[in-house]
Amino acid sequence: MDTLLEVRNLTMNFGGLKVTDDVSLTLTKGCRTALIGPNGAGKTTLINLFTGAYRPRAGTIRLMGRDITGTKEVERVRLGLVRSFQITRLFADMSVVDHVALAILQRDGRSSGMIRSYHGMPEVVEEAMDALRRLRLDGLAERVVSRIAYGQQRLLEIAIALILKPKVLLLDEPAAGIPSTDIDRVMTALDDLPADLAVLLIDHDMDLIRKFARDVIVMNAGAVIFRGRPDQLAGDPTVRSAYLGEEA
Ligand SMILES: Nc1ncnc2c1ncn2[C@@H]1O[C@H](COP(=O)(O)OP(=O)(O)OP(=O)(O)O)[C@@H](O)[C@H]1O
Ligand SMILES: [Mg+2]
Repeated sequence: MDTLLEVRNLTMNFGGLKVTDDVSLTLTKGCRTALIGPNGAGKTTLINLFTGAYRPRAGTIRLMGRDITGTKEVERVRLGLVRSFQITRLFADMSVVDHVALAILQRDGRSSGMIRSYHGMPEVVEEAMDALRRLRLDGLAERVVSRIAYGQQRLLEIAIALILKPKVLLLDEPAAGIPSTDIDRVMTALDDLPADLAVLLIDHDMDLIRKFARDVIVMNAGAVIFRGRPDQLAGDPTVRSAYLGEEA
């Protein structure tokens, strides 16, 4: 069976506000699924439920057939459920390659204190450089993060996420804040993701969504209001009114 992530009837409240309203969805091997919806629709909250940052009030989350609704965040990552963040969490003074090497050491359960000495570990250096090459960041390996473009920082985040060998990758607005001239780099990086990987992409950029996604899920006020192909979006009255409601 090609189902990797299976979510059934998830519900979550913040105080009196139902931010996740009976959401069910499935991500299959190799899927390219976009999750869109107006600001505050509950997209990031849903990802936080998938990763275990939040606990649902009701519903189940299964990863490769296994119920992970109650498991810890680190365990979910170990099982292959990995996210990147809407807000960058990189260290300004640390080099690009050091970030990736640190992720490798952490993944393998080696002490992060070894970050100073990983240069003596050829397999770590090689894997780190391979990961950077895949995202075309190898030319920037020795630069500190504060000295690379914002778009490149977002790509570095994806490189780090891939180090964790995900089966399911959750990308929360990887193109947010990137100048339109650099969006192509994100698009190329997304195109180059491993074919078998299941990818759920949240973004507001409809060009990016149309190029990337083979299927789209639309949320509004915590609930799924549409599932279909990108080309079916424009003609859907429910989707239109959700977005028009936002503009009004
Ligand atoms: N920690 C929190 N405590 C209380 N309310 C929250 C919290 N996080 C999010 N919310 C609320 O939950 C709702 C959904 O927020 P969420 O961040 O999931 O939306 P989103 O679809 O990711 O929006 P955006 O497109 O702006 O990123 C919003 O009404 C938001 O104000
Ligand atoms: Mg969000």
